[in-house]
Amino acid sequence: MEKLEQLYEGKAKKVYATNDPDFVIVDYKDDATAFNGEKKGTIVGKGVINNRLTNHFMKMLEENGIPTHFVKEISDRETVVKKVKIIMLEVIVRNIAAGSFSKRFGVKEGVILKQPSIEFSLKNDDLGDPLINTSHVLALGLASAEDIAKIKEYAFKVNALLKNYLLKFDIELVDFKLEFGKTSDGKIVLADEISPDTCRFWDVHTHEKLDKDRFRRNLGGEEHAYQEMLKRVIGD
Ligand code: TMP
Repeated sequence: MEKLEQLYEGKAKKVYATNDPDFVIVDYKDDATAFNGEKKGTIVGKGVINNRLTNHFMKMLEENGIPTHFVKEISDRETVVKKVKIIMLEVIVRNIAAGSFSKRFGVKEGVILKQPSIEFSLKNDDLGDPLINTSHVLALGLASAEDIAKIKEYAFKVNALLKNYLLKFDIELVDFKLEFGKTSDGKIVLADEISPDTCRFWDVHTHEKLDKDRFRRNLGGEEHAYQEMLKRVIGD
């Protein structure tokens, strides 16, 4: 497959056209942002780690019945994925209170939730990705009721699969953000990435943060945290 012109540059990835209209190539960058792009920096080696970890997780999920956009890893930073129309929602699933959930509801970070929760945010940096309910989603025509039901079903299934999978490596899945897209034939598939940029991962025993919160909160050691995730999950 041939890599053609750049179609889009996001905060953490670039997307390129290919000679096949059904496929694009994503290229992961080391650029790190937080607070809707207000805080900017670099996490050396992040692009390679996020590419490899995302593909590893997507393969595991696909094998367990979740349709994804993943096609083929072609270099340490580049992957061929199905071209999809992204549904403009951030789908957040939580097992343990942290981040904006803790702030919004006044629940201490680390409190285990009685059951996993799901929420949607509108994917719009200028508006600060505001929380949005399903009535708003329908009113704005962002997705249909069937789409929303499917997205919820997949998101909770991803949570159960990923949570169990990570426990083997002594990693607690605190929460994560997913994005979904529609292929040209109208099928909903899991898209974007699943990485320390988009998930909270804590060591089961020490609760050490192994994710982008180290960058967001100026804790330091972000490179080490990303490397540690790669080492535990993929083994190098
Ligand atoms: P939050 O607690 O800040 O709402 O974050 C919930 C999860 O979503 C956390 O795992 C980090 C991830 N996330 C993103 O992937 N992108 C974002 O822009 C934000 C704010 C959070």
